[in-house]
Amino acid sequence: MDEFVAKKVYVETYGCQMNISDGELMEGILVEKGYEVSTSAEVADVIIVNTCAIREHAEERVLGRVGQLYGIKKERPEVIIGVTGCMAQRLGDNLLQRAPYVDLVMGPDGYRSLPEQLERIHIGAKSMPSRSSKKRGPQLAVLDLDVGENYEGLVQRRTSPVSAWVPIQRGCDHKCTFCIVPYVRGPEKNRKSSDILNEVREIAEAGRTEVTLLGQTVNSYESDGVVFHELLRSVARIDGIRRVRFTSPHPNDVTPELLRVMAEEPTICEQLHLPLQSGNDKVLRRMLRRYTVDTFLEKVTLARDLIPDLSLSTDIIVAFPGESEDQFEDTLDLLRQVRFDDAYTYKYSLRDGTPATRFPESDFLSNEEAQIRLTKLIEVHRSIQNDINKGEVGRIEEVLVEKKGRETSQVLGRTRRNKVVAFNASSEIIGTYHQVLLTGTTGATFMGELAN
Ligand code: SAH
Ligand code: F3S
Repeated sequence: MDEFVAKKVYVETYGCQMNISDGELMEGILVEKGYEVSTSAEVADVIIVNTCAIREHAEERVLGRVGQLYGIKKERPEVIIGVTGCMAQRLGDNLLQRAPYVDLVMGPDGYRSLPEQLERIHIGAKSMPSRSSKKRGPQLAVLDLDVGENYEGLVQRRTSPVSAWVPIQRGCDHKCTFCIVPYVRGPEKNRKSSDILNEVREIAEAGRTEVTLLGQTVNSYESDGVVFHELLRSVARIDGIRRVRFTSPHPNDVTPELLRVMAEEPTICEQLHLPLQSGNDKVLRRMLRRYTVDTFLEKVTLARDLIPDLSLSTDIIVAFPGESEDQFEDTLDLLRQVRFDDAYTYKYSLRDGTPATRFPESDFLSNEEAQIRLTKLIEVHRSIQNDINKGEVGRIEEVLVEKKGRETSQVLGRTRRNKVVAFNASSEIIGTYHQVLLTGTTGATFMGELAN
């Protein structure tokens, strides 16, 4: 057995739930090979920064962090630094030039070979003459996208005692003009439904009761004759599973069948994330979202008709190239009309290689204009959210306790409708369900007290 085995790896993940899930996958792959997972970069032999490329800001943060990690490598040159995920895929070899102390860049389809690549770097360093001042292995780039790679047969390392992320789909077949995802994660590929169901059974057997199915357009899932609402129903009926969520659906694939399954299966939570992006048809068309405001609203109405007490969240981009002041106001109006329980709000960020970069230069808004719109949007959203949540104070809700709160006497959990509640209780109740009275709200989250 090589001495490199049984070394410590530290994985730091940025970005979406899919990336968090990928981070767990990398940990699982390495643990299988004898690695130990460390919670700090300072003591690790291998440091992996698992990155996001969705907006420029996300990338800048990561580059700053990778620069910091260089400090560790200066002190302990044998440390291997790997950058994985969407930004690694996007920047590729350029990243190795920009940050020459990085040993490995690896895109989202390369993780199966992670142990092997680390081994190559390690052996390369060992075989350098011992007096060499630059005793390091080769710098490697693993950037092939692979339509066949679904990571079947590998085991994710799940640390939450409570919930589990379950990727059912990777990549995306849409080409929204602002979005880098199809270029860094490739086309849509779906796992076999039998593999997914087996995995969820194992999750339940391990005592986890909440699963979240993941995919870039999770509800367009289709494999071996099984479509998303069928898979969802099967997952919902697995013994031991008490809560099922999924993210992110594409509005176009929200079908009446899907909504009926959500309404009929008691384990599926009354929560739907429905990314809107803009409240103006012209902007939606330029974004290539393939729906109109009207068709989006039809889905919302149908969803609310079929699923009483449904909590809705969304994503909005402001200052998309060419967005006029009036078109932006349309988005605010739509927010007021739909009244989302939650909204993730972003300033448009130009991503090289995406179709939106080809709009005329005069279409692009300044950062100042974008910031003014974002601030306004957040203000409108917060006021709606505050209203909705104030109306929920006084309710008793089932809360799944997830973790310790900021204050030592507190724990944090979520309602079925995905709202965060903090309340006084011993951390021994983490992982269990309780009836909690909502006693107040900060606007976005709730304070509560045990009611059982
Ligand atoms: N379907 C995917 C979308 C991933 S990106 C999913 O939710 O899993 C998540 C959100 O980031 C998008 O819905 C969009 O609102 C935002 N986003 C994507 N690209 C962006 C860009 N270039 N600038 C600003 N926001 C962006
Ligand atoms: Fe991106 Fe649109 Fe796919 S937002 S992930 S291209 S559905």
